[in-house]
Amino acid sequence: NAQLDYPSNRLANIADLAVNEPMDIEYPDADSPGILLKLGEAVEGGAGPDGNIVAYSVLCPHKGWYLTYSAEDRSLNCPGHFSRFDAEVGGQQIWGHATQNLPQFTLRVDAKGDIYAEGCSDLIFGRPSNVL
Ligand code: FES
Repeated sequence: NAQLDYPSNRLANIADLAVNEPMDIEYPDADSPGILLKLGEAVEGGAGPDGNIVAYSVLCPHKGWYLTYSAEDRSLNCPGHFSRFDAEVGGQQIWGHATQNLPQFTLRVDAKGDIYAEGCSDLIFGRPSNVL
């Protein structure tokens, strides 16, 4: 687990988010899709006044398939080889083939409720290093 710093990017405002309804984002650039998600309670790595806002890459760390979000159990699921990641526990792998957890984007929320991404917990799939 190697924290990577990327440029700060405004993703949305807290008011734009509804609980358990992920918003599609791109961070740190257009080649890196992800989701921004407000959960029902405070969680690991959660930002904002309630500690419940998280963001993750949706590129599977195994081979880069696109993950889909399951609102039922707050997990991200891979249609490729069925790896599963827990959105309430920092992207921890629940089951699967990946050798790392799902990259979680580091968030900061300012006094106006604007949400910024500023880094990432692990390498995004396909990136050999911290380069844009
Ligand atoms: Fe997701 Fe293989 S690409 S499990």
